[in-house]
Amino acid sequence: MTRRSLPTILAAALCLTTAAAAANDAGADDETLKFPNLAATPPMGWNSWNTFACEINEQLIRDTADVMVASGMRDAGYVYVNLDDCWHGSRDDNGFIQPDPKRFPSGIRALADYVHARGLKLGIYSDAGTKTCGGRPGSQGHEYQDALQYARWSVDYLKYDWCNTGDRTPAEAYRTMARALIAAGRPILFSICEWGDNKPWLWGAPIGHQWRTTGDIMNCWDCAVSHGNWDSNGVLRILDKQAGLRQYAGPGHWNDPDMMEVGNLPAASEDRAHFALWAMLAAPLIAGNDLRKMSPATRAILTNREVIAVDQDPLGLSGFPYKKEPGFDIWVKPLAHDAWAVALLNRDATPRKVRVDWSHEEVEDALNHRRAELAKHVYKLRDLLAHRDAGTTAQPLQVAVPGHDVAMYRLERTK
Ligand code: GLA
Repeated sequence: MTRRSLPTILAAALCLTTAAAAANDAGADDETLKFPNLAATPPMGWNSWNTFACEINEQLIRDTADVMVASGMRDAGYVYVNLDDCWHGSRDDNGFIQPDPKRFPSGIRALADYVHARGLKLGIYSDAGTKTCGGRPGSQGHEYQDALQYARWSVDYLKYDWCNTGDRTPAEAYRTMARALIAAGRPILFSICEWGDNKPWLWGAPIGHQWRTTGDIMNCWDCAVSHGNWDSNGVLRILDKQAGLRQYAGPGHWNDPDMMEVGNLPAASEDRAHFALWAMLAAPLIAGNDLRKMSPATRAILTNREVIAVDQDPLGLSGFPYKKEPGFDIWVKPLAHDAWAVALLNRDATPRKVRVDWSHEEVEDALNHRRAELAKHVYKLRDLLAHRDAGTTAQPLQVAVPGHDVAMYRLERTK
């Protein structure tokens, strides 16, 4: 053993202490930095962005909260009323963010009180960079102040975006805000929105309750629009980008394929299919349409409790495409009590006749060691869109799936 002089030992000890402090500061990669029990099942609510973009104000949010109650959405499970970008005014002399005084003259606390009085919760939006994507003040360098302000306002949910972040690394930036939320002390659901660019499914679970897996959704079935360095995508394109991600999601930490365009798509069949597919994915169900003007058909889709139950199943397992043919997929999702959800997806515009001979199907979720014993056991079929029983797996299923639509069933084992 070599001998070291006292100064060398002291210096080494100092180095060690500094390194430990730094490690502590950055946090171990798997250190849990989020409030527990906020998202045992995928979060449900509404967000302003998909329909209103920056054109939001407190009256719109209040009216939306009222419709969430009157339409039955709240009672069907939708809880969060979320402001997206552009609610911001400027920072006060002490650096505390204020709402836009013209659009939110009563302030955010009053809005939260209004929403809470209706049994709902309020969400807010910020960004890990210097400015939000809409050019409003970002939280970089103000994380603790912003988290404290949200807590003082009784906010319940934070969507945290990724524009104008310079050379920040997302794991550091999101961890900093997560720590700030914990320090502020109010349980706030933390929604990571960096579009899947840095594989948040690999580092997001200890920090956030959900993470966007893709760029922005848009209200089309199967289109993509380029905006230069980013694209927005229609429903099918977003769906297909979820491949390989199901293993990373589960209770408390969800893959987020973006807020819904239900009610905004060109065809009601597309709205229906979109909703069913998000439920099959166990995605957060955040409506993005104008609730004040939604049609009875849109309302029926959003409040379909049998489909919602698939999304909210307590096992929290995402579904996956069990079979794919050109223009057609069969999706399956394991549910609690050995039940399964099955969605037959017609990607094409023309109707498609489908025959499923259950006794020849081998439905298995190898990842989670679950298997539907369809050759051995009879399952009852429940049509989740028509709300009726649809026979059993003892007979082949014959169904015509309209263009850009789904048929969706719950399979339950008979005794
Ligand atoms: C990004 C997000 C969107 C929305 C806008 C707001 O594009 O991905 O969901 O929040 O910013 O500017």
